[in-house]
Amino acid sequence: MEPKSSTLEELPNNIPVHVAIIMDGNGRWAQKRGLPRLAGHRAGTENLREIIKACVEFGVKYLTIYAFSTENWGRPAEEVDGLMHILEDVIDQELEELHQQGVQLVHIGQLERLDTSLREKVKKSIELTKDNHRLTVCIAWNYGGRDEIVCAIKRIIEDGLKPEQICDDIVSDYLFTSGIPDPDLIIRTSGEMRISNFLIWQSAYSEWYVTPILWPDFNRDEFRKALIDFGQRERRYGLVIPCQED
Ligand code: FPP
Repeated sequence: MEPKSSTLEELPNNIPVHVAIIMDGNGRWAQKRGLPRLAGHRAGTENLREIIKACVEFGVKYLTIYAFSTENWGRPAEEVDGLMHILEDVIDQELEELHQQGVQLVHIGQLERLDTSLREKVKKSIELTKDNHRLTVCIAWNYGGRDEIVCAIKRIIEDGLKPEQICDDIVSDYLFTSGIPDPDLIIRTSGEMRISNFLIWQSAYSEWYVTPILWPDFNRDEFRKALIDFGQRERRYGLVIPCQED
């Protein structure tokens, strides 16, 4: 039988547990083709389906995708509405298959600003998939890293924690990502070298992979390249690696 992936080298043993992606470049992808920006977002959504499948196949356990930031509300209304429709369509059309694949859906960000019906759909999809463990897909929607930290501080104060109780683990527990391990690898497509308010606490020791490929073109093989690159990194977490004795 033809091996599933004959085009690239074998994957490394140290597959990242958690991959987070800034799916950038949809607008430029559309512009290059003379299409409206939303066509780029639709193409990006198609691509996401492939990357989710690849995560299941390659053994990635958590995939976080930056799909709608707290700043994205400032885009033209047509684009904002279009993105909301895309989220709704994905839930309506893909939820059952994702559930069958063993995908758990979680959300990070604030749902309150979404229309009631969309908010309920998101909550229903989280509830339906809560016992799935093959892959957790964490959708960052109306998410901002600073907003997440502000929310955490407010809740810490509301809960009456004392200064001596505050430590890294407590802060992590109050973030939207509570219970989810920090990302091992963050991928940003389209060549931009910015964090853009994404997982700013959680990315303290993440490895970054930036590629000029635009998100709709970042296919399974490009994803494999990112994982192979990650496999060659030496993660030191601020420590030194002792010299090997002969
Ligand atoms: C950034 O590209 C992309 C976004 C702001 C939206 C990404 C959203 C999706 C792909 C939809 C995913 C759907 C679900 C349900 C999770 P850009 O528009 O900033 O591109 P540009 O920099 O080329 O203009």
